[in-house]
Amino acid sequence: PPSSRVSLTVNGTRRTVTADNRTSLLDLLREHFGLTGSKKGCNAGACGACTVLVDGHRVNACLTLAVRLEGTEVTTIEGLATRGELHPLQQAFIDEDAFQCGYCTPGQILSGVGCIQEGHTDSPEEIREWMSGNICRCGCYVKIVRAVESTAG
Ligand code: FES
Repeated sequence: PPSSRVSLTVNGTRRTVTADNRTSLLDLLREHFGLTGSKKGCNAGACGACTVLVDGHRVNACLTLAVRLEGTEVTTIEGLATRGELHPLQQAFIDEDAFQCGYCTPGQILSGVGCIQEGHTDSPEEIREWMSGNICRCGCYVKIVRAVESTAG
């Protein structure tokens, strides 16, 4: 099958890879780069477990073709902590106890970071609306919204 070369920055590190044109960003991250923090829930854009940031915007990595990402900057859960310090939203998830099984958590956190950066945090209702693409089967929504709210300040 046709493949392409793509160079992108992942968590601050420049990476160049040749991948099958059909490879999703999620598979590129997990299988080529060994970054398994982004989870594959539905692989169809319905659950949000694979949410990452591309140039600061939230995307479902399972629906994003890797070879279209030339020159972009991708941020995954592995890249959020800096100099050994958790990102404030990571810390807030711990403080608020905003997870149970944890499978959706990387996607929830990246989505929350995007939500805060986009300014959709004026009320719990607004946060709920803008985080509605991220499903939590354990039902931790109240605490997830609280974590995003407290981080947004
Ligand atoms: Fe991408 Fe579910 S795995 S949205």
